[in-house]
Amino acid sequence: MRPDLTVRATGARELMDDPSADRGALARTYLRFGVVNRLVSRPGLLFRRDVRPRARRGGIRILDVGAGGGDLCRFLAARLRRHGLAAEITALDPDERAIEWAQAHDDGAGIRCLCGTTAELVRAGETFDVVFSNHLLHHLSEDERTGLLEDTVRLTAPGGVAVHRDIARSRAAYMLFAAATLPFRRNLLAGSFIRADGLTSIRRSWTVGELRAVAARGWSVRGGIPFRLELRREQGR
Ligand SMILES: C[S@@+](CC[C@H](N)C(=O)[O-])C[C@H]1O[C@@H](n2cnc3c(N)ncnc32)[C@H](O)[C@@H]1O
Repeated sequence: MRPDLTVRATGARELMDDPSADRGALARTYLRFGVVNRLVSRPGLLFRRDVRPRARRGGIRILDVGAGGGDLCRFLAARLRRHGLAAEITALDPDERAIEWAQAHDDGAGIRCLCGTTAELVRAGETFDVVFSNHLLHHLSEDERTGLLEDTVRLTAPGGVAVHRDIARSRAAYMLFAAATLPFRRNLLAGSFIRADGLTSIRRSWTVGELRAVAARGWSVRGGIPFRLELRREQGR
């Protein structure tokens, strides 16, 4: 099938978002996010550009919104430890299945795992030096996106940065992901939602131009390699 990639497939649903999704398949999906994120999400860039310079000024607070299984939190914790830098890292997700999995797979990283919403953190008066998300934007309705960005501004401490990173929709991204995951569907990715949900995610995701058109004042949108985009805002001091 050749899906229409000229517009966002906002009606398409990811299997992992189904509250009655198979728990074993969901667990295997969280587990495999580690491999997928290393290959496509460039967490090293997030660390070098946004986290490390701030952590060098002193212990910082980091918030991962829609953290899923907490894979990027554990990646950042390991990098910070390797560089002898201190940070408190919070994995936030409204899905308790994700937070339970992240807690159970902390592996000594010391991540603070919270089942909840950004609105709750705003009400609690929390602020963070780095607020980020990965593969979250394409999940959100217009109201949810607006709410997320307003909350993010309030949650970002002076001198901090907010960066929401996602896939950029294109036919090339779809075809490449379909081809690259095909040989692994019966082994590495078997019994997980990675291939099906990855393809749906690409269909639901934004292009740089579309996101720029709806970005609120103060936010910038950049494209990146491979097939990436990010919505970014630096908070003045
Ligand atoms: C595709 S997963 C990405 C997980 C993780 N960030 C990663 O890159 O591996 C999207 C996550 O966003 C969460 N999510 C969905 N709607 C959300 C919202 N409005 N606010 C925060 N998280 C949300 C889901 O529960 C899910 O865990």
